Amino acid sequence: MYKIFNTTQEASHYTAQRLLARIQSNPGANLGLATGSTMEPVYHRLLEFLQREPVDLSQLTTFNLDEYIGLGGKHAQSYRYYMHQHLFNKLSIPEEKINLPDGMSMDVEEACQAYSEAIRASGGLDMQLLGIGSNGHIGFNEPHTCFSSRTHVIELSEQTRLDNGRFFVDKKEVPTRAITMGIQDILEAKEIVLLATGMKKAAIMADLFHSTVDEALPASALKQHPDVTIVLDCEAASLLPQQVFNEAVGIMEGVR
Ligand code: F6R
Repeated sequence: MYKIFNTTQEASHYTAQRLLARIQSNPGANLGLATGSTMEPVYHRLLEFLQREPVDLSQLTTFNLDEYIGLGGKHAQSYRYYMHQHLFNKLSIPEEKINLPDGMSMDVEEACQAYSEAIRASGGLDMQLLGIGSNGHIGFNEPHTCFSSRTHVIELSEQTRLDNGRFFVDKKEVPTRAITMGIQDILEAKEIVLLATGMKKAAIMADLFHSTVDEALPASALKQHPDVTIVLDCEAASLLPQQVFNEAVGIMEGVR
């Protein structure tokens, strides 16, 4: 299902509402979370909602999608740092219920296996939030990642390193490898919400729309899932067929 909004602000607001609704209906939910620029306004909104309407978060568990190998939690570009800056420092989720892959693990293979097992042992993800890379990656599952993959080490593509270089002072500092939840882990989430905003995502969203289920385009795996919502702003949706546009326009009251 597509939901298309006029602005990034509205699309982010809607996505934050979906997260909030999931937390309110199940305070013990397992949430799969994402990082990146797209998610910043979502977490900002979610914090606003939770300030207005406090919810007990002591039972909530979170699993992040990915982490760079070689960056510790104090590194400003690590995803652990990002999550604490944008969300966790301002919420009362118990630290032991916050899960991110460990990019500094001495035994990454074991850490990967343990991560997928922890997701399963917790009862699985109730909701997975996703962004999308300009090459169609979800998490850091780059093109041609096997759809049956579990948490694993991935060699980042040149495109991804180029895209993410904007966060680093020197582009050469962008790590070459990361740990990512696998596509199978993502597909096992009960509900998936993918958010894409801005012109930079228009081409990949059109490719995804027209694509068959194909490992060359990792996000196409989502076509096999029964409960996926793709949330877009007008720019990211601008290359979709007009008919999709007409059927998917979201109406946001009081947001502007
Ligand atoms: C981040 C992640 C990635 C990003 C994607 C888009 O945890 O899993 O798939 O969602 O690279 O990043 P932005 O939002 O920065 O364009």
